[in-house]
Amino acid sequence: MGKVSRRNFLKTGSLAAAGVGLLNGSAFKPDDLVKSIRIGVIGAGNRGARHISTLLTIEGAEITAVCDLVDSRTMNAASMCENAGRKRPSIYNGDENSYKEMLDKENLDAVIIATYWNSHAEIAVYAMKNAIYPAVEVPAALSVNDLWQLVDTSEKTGIPVMMLENACFRKDNLALLNMKRLGLFGEIVHCHGAHGHDLVDFWFYDRKNGEPNWAAEYLLKYNRDQFPTQSLAPLMSWMDINRGDIFTEIYSTASASKGINAFFKREFGVNHPAGNLHYNQGDVITSVLKTKAGKTVILNTDIQLPRPFANSWMLQGTKGIYNEEKDGVFLEFKSPEYHQWEPFKPYEEKYCHKWWQYDYSSKFNDGTDFVMLSQFVGAVRSKGPAPVDVYDSAVMSAVIELSGISIEKNSPVLFPDFTRGKWQTNSPRFAVE
Ligand SMILES: NC(=O)c1ccc[n+]([C@@H]2O[C@H](COP(=O)([O-])OP(=O)(O)OC[C@H]3O[C@@H](n4cnc5c(N)ncnc54)[C@H](O)[C@@H]3O)[C@@H](O)[C@H]2O)c1
Repeated sequence: MGKVSRRNFLKTGSLAAAGVGLLNGSAFKPDDLVKSIRIGVIGAGNRGARHISTLLTIEGAEITAVCDLVDSRTMNAASMCENAGRKRPSIYNGDENSYKEMLDKENLDAVIIATYWNSHAEIAVYAMKNAIYPAVEVPAALSVNDLWQLVDTSEKTGIPVMMLENACFRKDNLALLNMKRLGLFGEIVHCHGAHGHDLVDFWFYDRKNGEPNWAAEYLLKYNRDQFPTQSLAPLMSWMDINRGDIFTEIYSTASASKGINAFFKREFGVNHPAGNLHYNQGDVITSVLKTKAGKTVILNTDIQLPRPFANSWMLQGTKGIYNEEKDGVFLEFKSPEYHQWEPFKPYEEKYCHKWWQYDYSSKFNDGTDFVMLSQFVGAVRSKGPAPVDVYDSAVMSAVIELSGISIEKNSPVLFPDFTRGKWQTNSPRFAVE
């Protein structure tokens, strides 16, 4: 890239636009900006294809290999690359172990893992052992044992791993992080997050005929918070979890399971076989998490009753409070009316994070995935730490198994310290300006 085009790239290019190169406050050297990275994608279904389409808009992100169980999905992924004027990636199909051949043979810098939940950890571990930087879809793993494997492998190999949880990259949540770091909320003492999203026929069952997809088995087998990462993601940096504080325990409870059976009766009549099964999964899971510093979090996952979508994020400190559902904020001595909400939008603009000081309105998901993947590409290129590191990925994902144990025992469960004590000296790093 010549001087002029590099200047154009810096002005309009996606990496510069997203603030890539400024991770940890350090600027990229010019050479880093021109270095392409070779990325493989494993799992080219809904989310994997979406990542491919976003990566194709990120300068220097070359998709050189794609793997899926289903031929038509790898073909589709390859066509997407060709249609964007890129080289056709190598294709790997066959069975659930074909990814190993891809990771062994291809000279990859990074891999995106967007497969079913049960294979994320295994594939990420294999990638790290091959010195390939993995970005793994949510959750990073389903069990605490597998999460420890991720932590141990990352520490042993020196290869970072990032969970692709995008909620912490949102414009609103990053503006709140800036506000929190400027002390506008005082000391944070309590937060709330929820995944309120009717997913029965969106994720678990086919809308047309009620046939189960791969995730449906989890509703039959388990009773736990199946989707904690989205609700928890922004809270991690709002509360300095793993960086000054840690979760010490979680106490979860589940409502009765009525929603899935009611869905089938409503949509398919009383004789649909899935409508007469026994589902272990309660409709609404509520967890209380406590931190070492005595702060609290309430998480709700509510995915099988009819309802509008909601994250219900809330951030509360000694000087003020933010409430996503009210789209409002109240700051003591700053908000114009005593103990009244004022609109959050002006704050979102005023405290806009530098990753968001560009217009992403034409991009999918308002640009949140673009910001997240740009940060990942930047981290791989600079061989830097993962923006969402293995410890944060582990904490967010651990809620799945721990909430299930807590519900079963009807008692609080201790939270593991994946940092092995480093939380006491680690300083905040995510999105530090
Ligand atoms: N962060 C988000 O906003 C978001 C949104 C949707 C999905 N997701 C996550 O993305 C992941 C995938 O979900 P999806 O909706 O794309 O599912 P999907 O079923 O559409 O796609 C999964 C793909 O993975 C392939 N696959 C499974 N095991 C494989 C293996 N061992 N090797 C190669 N390919 C394999 C399947 O053939 C399928 O094409 C899940 O972990 C899900 O939680 C995240």
